[in-house]
Amino acid sequence: MNVLLVSRSVTHHGGHDAIHRLAAAVGATACFLDGAEPSLHAALDAQPDDADILLVAVHVPPDRYLDTWIRRAVAHWQQTRDRPLRIALAPPLAAQPALAQAVTEAIAGPPVPLTGTPGPFRSPAWSDIPKHRRQVLVCRGPRCTAYGANEVAAALGCRLREHGLGDDDVLVTETGCLFPCNLGPLIVVHPDDIWYEHADPALATRIADEHLRDGVPVGDRPPRQSG
Ligand code: FES
Repeated sequence: MNVLLVSRSVTHHGGHDAIHRLAAAVGATACFLDGAEPSLHAALDAQPDDADILLVAVHVPPDRYLDTWIRRAVAHWQQTRDRPLRIALAPPLAAQPALAQAVTEAIAGPPVPLTGTPGPFRSPAWSDIPKHRRQVLVCRGPRCTAYGANEVAAALGCRLREHGLGDDDVLVTETGCLFPCNLGPLIVVHPDDIWYEHADPALATRIADEHLRDGVPVGDRPPRQSG
């Protein structure tokens, strides 16, 4: 039985590493429904054909979005792959008595002194609006992630770094679902309001070269605009 811990994107630094460490501690593999690597699709792709797969939704308390979208993502994976894997879903973590036991043990354990100052909470830096020329939205929602958004985001970031384009030039923002999922993976460039659909790493690289560095939208795949 190969166990995959399936989590949603974790926005704070180190959050993804914590999921990977948890997976390693229990002999499982971590993967993500949206916003992080590897995607659930990529993790399933990496399994051998004769594997029995148990999916464990990692979220406390239970996240109905995660539970629902694991089912949808696996159904899409099965529909788009000709693979014989047997895939099942574990009961919710929050229903496990051991979770209450873990909290009980934490309460009984030696407390850790609290340290820290309130200074950084209201740092003047958090009043500065970034002086970017363009903002790029890269959808990392569940459908775009299933269609390859992780690889698209990696290619875009890599190329921007090669060009030395940082936040002051191009502010890249990874987002949740932007709605026209059937066009995903999506990259949106503002203020130009240009929506690049069905992006792949090659298109992401061209967007970085031609649109974001040279200021000329990629022309041979007519991009859409809103409205
Ligand atoms: S998941 Fe990307 S537009 Fe919906």
